[in-house]
Amino acid sequence: MATHILFRGPQDRNDCWRAMFADALPSVVWHHWPNVEDKAAIDVIIAWKLPRDYQQDYPNLRVIFSVGAGVDQLNLDTVPEHIKVVRMLDPGIAKGMAEFIALHVLNIHRDTFHYINANKTATWKQLPTKATSQRRVGILGLGTLGQVAANSLLALGFSVNGWSRSAKQLKGVRCFSGMEQLEEFLSQTDVLVSLLPLTIHTQGILNNKTLSQLPQGASIINVGRGEQLVSQDLLTLLDKGHLSFAVLDVFDTEPLPDSNRLWQHPNVIVTPHIAAITQDESAGKVLVENVQRYTKGQAMIGTVDRAVGY
Ligand code: GLV
Repeated sequence: MATHILFRGPQDRNDCWRAMFADALPSVVWHHWPNVEDKAAIDVIIAWKLPRDYQQDYPNLRVIFSVGAGVDQLNLDTVPEHIKVVRMLDPGIAKGMAEFIALHVLNIHRDTFHYINANKTATWKQLPTKATSQRRVGILGLGTLGQVAANSLLALGFSVNGWSRSAKQLKGVRCFSGMEQLEEFLSQTDVLVSLLPLTIHTQGILNNKTLSQLPQGASIINVGRGEQLVSQDLLTLLDKGHLSFAVLDVFDTEPLPDSNRLWQHPNVIVTPHIAAITQDESAGKVLVENVQRYTKGQAMIGTVDRAVGY
């Protein structure tokens, strides 16, 4: 039986992926949401967010591919167990994320945001510089994205530490794991980069208690999910001078409302969830390979472990 794929997303991405599938797997029948005549034929959905009532509408659904690295937007708890959920492990996302992180770690390391603020008052004041090896970058979350980011920071000479839920080993990175080692990790972090997936365990993990465990003058970069950061606590610690700068790419409400204080704070840099964007060509290859695996009954790369939530 042919595999029927339903894609929910923009036309240009639809056209790119439809063509890639037609080339590599001509037996696949491709549908672009919402144009589906026989909904019962659909066994695979590729989407960022699922259509409402998808469980009733597509009774033979077997696999959901997220078009992004995260799957929290799919409300995993409500997806029936027999449907596999697969994260997008796109090398294009990893490359974009590593670029964004290296860019902003360097900006913080070389005091770019300080000088941008000093420009506003025509203040000529040189700050002392340090070698990258003297700057400790701590990465929260050592999955695929964290590992690629760590390697690009190591290549720039930074001293890189990492923290993950379960123990990991990574060449050149001092690894910490579990809640019991979080404080020790944070206390040695000058620039904290959070790449954690959103789960019940990571919700609100960046709060007054944990952020206060960073050394005086530390900065943070949040590219995980907005719900992990208690922004009021961040603002308080920035105002007190305990923290220096925050680069935030993700927010609990997106777009970030105009009235949110984060927009106005001189030491907060807001970017509109652009740290890492799924790249059509490289992500299309990952999808083709995974659909091939699905049709052969093989394990798909990036299948979500429901027990851990990513
Ligand atoms: C973006 O946030 C993603 O999950 O890819």
